[in-house]
Amino acid sequence: MYVAILGRQPALGIAELERVFGGSSVKVISSQAATVDSDYFDIQKLGGSPKAGIIVDELPKSDWHKVSQKVVQYYSGKWSAFEGKITLGISVYGFDVDSREVQKTGIILKQKLKKSGVSLRLVPNPTPALNSAVSHHNKLGLSPNKVEILIVKSKDNVIIAESTGSQNITAYANRDQMRPKRDAFVGMLPPKLAQIMINLAVGDQKSLRILDPFCGTGVIMQEAALMGYSIYGTDLSEKMVRYCRDNLNWLADSHHVKFDWYLHEGDAVKTKWQQPIDAIVSEVYLGQPFSAPPSPTKLEEVKQNCNHIISEFLKNLAGQIKPGTLVCIAVPAWRDKDGKITHLPLISTIARLDYKPHEFANISQGDLLYFRENQVVARELLVLTRV
Ligand SMILES: C[S@@+](CC[C@H](N)C(=O)[O-])C[C@H]1O[C@@H](n2cnc3c(N)ncnc32)[C@H](O)[C@@H]1O
Repeated sequence: MYVAILGRQPALGIAELERVFGGSSVKVISSQAATVDSDYFDIQKLGGSPKAGIIVDELPKSDWHKVSQKVVQYYSGKWSAFEGKITLGISVYGFDVDSREVQKTGIILKQKLKKSGVSLRLVPNPTPALNSAVSHHNKLGLSPNKVEILIVKSKDNVIIAESTGSQNITAYANRDQMRPKRDAFVGMLPPKLAQIMINLAVGDQKSLRILDPFCGTGVIMQEAALMGYSIYGTDLSEKMVRYCRDNLNWLADSHHVKFDWYLHEGDAVKTKWQQPIDAIVSEVYLGQPFSAPPSPTKLEEVKQNCNHIISEFLKNLAGQIKPGTLVCIAVPAWRDKDGKITHLPLISTIARLDYKPHEFANISQGDLLYFRENQVVARELLVLTRV
């Protein structure tokens, strides 16, 4: 049994866990964490969980001091005869506790172990939970002597887990920033979000061919290739197809990976795609970018234009895929200055286009929004099944 620590937008992480491990295996235990009933967990393939750990104990709900004492007692016993030096990080979620208190727990444990002749290096806590970059740089969870204890307060109890690793933020940054061709105007989908979208469409299936009909510079194709899928991309723009090709060639060379890929120009509202198409993952046309909320008239115009293109694309696609095929698309949703959201009209009438929304056990489709503060155009993820 694992505990997954959720990212900045927890609903996305929960949805992803449900699709990969099955809705009944995932239990949301707090606003920051979910348990996953599984005997494996590959953090590098999940965009929505920055950290995860294997559950070693569950304590009755109590205050921080009692929990801290238990942790010290358990690990001073467990490691009393440890050979070699231990590097330890402690991350606490859901307790109203100061980072110094967390650090104190580590110091007490260090002193106890010293008496048994065991040496421990403590990773300092600037915050009660180490951020995943710090955990990653210290390689916590990746070998028996580099440990991160995750202490998670849930609605019913307190979970003690040992991290099995954090997301590799260096690799994400490289994949995002080192690609030879980038384009600020079409916008760049963060690789983590691309991974989430792929997992939402694919679930636990293997060996699929994934189509991205608005492939742009190819972030989704790149992440799908690294996850082991065959990839097929099309885009209206000749320049984007060229950029995407250069980026995929770079990926194959720089990451020493081989993958099946096919790429050509095509208008998503009328292209006839080559079969097979097993799943569709795409960040579709998002309309023009805005740095400030547009006027109501402008918003209406952009919304109707996007709604038209995306509806026509979904109709064209529906005629070319088998019933049961899954589609995960990021569509635009516009945020005003109070954070109120304007959605695409097609979402409420999706059945007319021959799709039905996927049902999640712990969240609803409407929760799947991705945005940064001050961003006007948010991405709304739709997970649809062709009926
Ligand atoms: C939001 S961007 C996708 C960016 C992409 N995820 C990436 O990694 O760069 C949308 C893309 O849709 C393309 N596009 C716009 N209208 C299209 C259409 N009707 N058919 C196909 N592609 C279209 C644009 O050229 C652009 O590359």
